[in-house]
Amino acid sequence: MKIGIIGAGSIGLLFASYLDQDFDVTLYTRTKEQAAEINQNGVCVKNGSSEMAALPKAKAFAEWNGTDHLTIITVKQYQLQPIIERIGKLTDDPSNLLFLQNGMGHLELLQSIQGHNLFVGTVEHGALRENLNTVRHNGEGVTNAAVFRGSPERLVEFSSKVPANFPVILRENYYEMLVNKLIVNAVINPLTAVLYVTNGMLVSNPFYLETAKRLTAEVCFILNIENVNAQLKRVAGVCQNTFNNRSSMLKDLENGRLTEVDAILGYLLRVAARNEKPAPLVEALCWMIRGKELDGEGES
Ligand code: PAF
Repeated sequence: MKIGIIGAGSIGLLFASYLDQDFDVTLYTRTKEQAAEINQNGVCVKNGSSEMAALPKAKAFAEWNGTDHLTIITVKQYQLQPIIERIGKLTDDPSNLLFLQNGMGHLELLQSIQGHNLFVGTVEHGALRENLNTVRHNGEGVTNAAVFRGSPERLVEFSSKVPANFPVILRENYYEMLVNKLIVNAVINPLTAVLYVTNGMLVSNPFYLETAKRLTAEVCFILNIENVNAQLKRVAGVCQNTFNNRSSMLKDLENGRLTEVDAILGYLLRVAARNEKPAPLVEALCWMIRGKELDGEGES
């Protein structure tokens, strides 16, 4: 089975190196330089003190034509637009496209794609890119995937063939799958980024915990989710399990990068506005993160 992977950030490199064990993988990079580096030296995954090398093919994204049996899109939500435009120009048979963005902002973009099989997924691995062709796998998890629209065949085939050390779990309901991840990201990411703390501090500091509880309740209210306690338990569980980790939003700010605030809090604000619901905490946090992005901030 031929797998294309668009985006060679931490998740793209991680997927390329694990999937290369069992599939014919081509990684589509933003720059020709990165493709050249990967073609020459392969991809290296570090996991604790061990290292694994993989030799996927690499090409610049300009060469992507949608003919792989499945293309996995790993770029951030705010980098999707040119890819969606390219998908709109594909003329061959329907492509099979798996989108792995955080948040739910990308669903609004996916609505505009016609005639392809669309899948969405959530990634529970921790990964950090160290350079153009090296990624550190610092949290082993699973990938969840579900059909958003179209025929499921290629996704089912893919999930049955992935290597045992890189599981992909098929979910029935894409909305439930994405909402569960959205709530975790909507609470942990902005609070850790604004408070400048690791995930575990949100449960070990009683004042931060109280803030996390109120934010969880507001997010559940926006999404019409009744069992707030169950969601709070899940959020707290993720904080415990990733106690010493810095959230991706905190790391983005520290590195002067844009964050996924629009895909996460921006999406929630749009849902709240459509339903005329107040969202004061989400709105304030959204402004704070956007302000930090504008400052190019990272408190180092
Ligand atoms: O975005 C992140 O950092 C992660 O999704 C999570 C689960 C919040 C852990 O840090």
